[in-house]
Amino acid sequence: MTQDEMKKTAAIKALEFIEDDTIVGVGTGSTVNHFIDALASKKNDITGAVSSSEESTKRLKALDIEVFDLNGVNEISVYVDGADEITEHMHMIKGGGAALTREKIVAAVAKSFVCICDESKQVPMLGKFPLPVEVIPMARSYVARELVKLGGDPVYRQGVVTDNGNVILDVHNLDIIDPKRLESDINAIVGVVTNGLFAHRGADVLILGTPEGAKVVK
Ligand code: A5P
Repeated sequence: MTQDEMKKTAAIKALEFIEDDTIVGVGTGSTVNHFIDALASKKNDITGAVSSSEESTKRLKALDIEVFDLNGVNEISVYVDGADEITEHMHMIKGGGAALTREKIVAAVAKSFVCICDESKQVPMLGKFPLPVEVIPMARSYVARELVKLGGDPVYRQGVVTDNGNVILDVHNLDIIDPKRLESDINAIVGVVTNGLFAHRGADVLILGTPEGAKVVK
């Protein structure tokens, strides 16, 4: 089974967590694209979706799934999104697709976070995947110097502007022993919008795509 087939297996399994007549939180990325395609089969059962990126919004609308503005929505029962890395404690690194801030906002509103990924994303410790940090453009150099003080090696993601008009620093070589603390410390740097550590709000359910099928971890 290819990595993409494993992603698809996990994405299809996530449909079982979607309740009728609710608004579904939808993440971003190649695994979520499979989920959006599968969600089309339930579009008449759900109220609609809240999206975490322009890219996902476009795909949802192309499949005639109504997309709501988060400000007009009181409740999201389930948020479905991928991850770049996830541990057994359900802490994640996200933001490989630069959508981390909107993803974190929608995840904060959702009652439950269902993470879908192929088995390669499960790691014993976070940090091999460089940690994305969304930064206000004028603060880029200052934030980079502060990230060096925290022990990381920030690299400016050239040519990428987020949906919020900001830039991304990918931080290599961080020792992520205490993900919650590091998440808070990086977010305390002036000029940081947010970082891709999802530790304070981790996943509630993990659906792993494996060659043997989808494995659900709660
Ligand atoms: C998007 O910004 C990310 O948080 C994605 O959720 C993450 O990069 C996973 O992407 P894939 O599903 O493409 O692996």
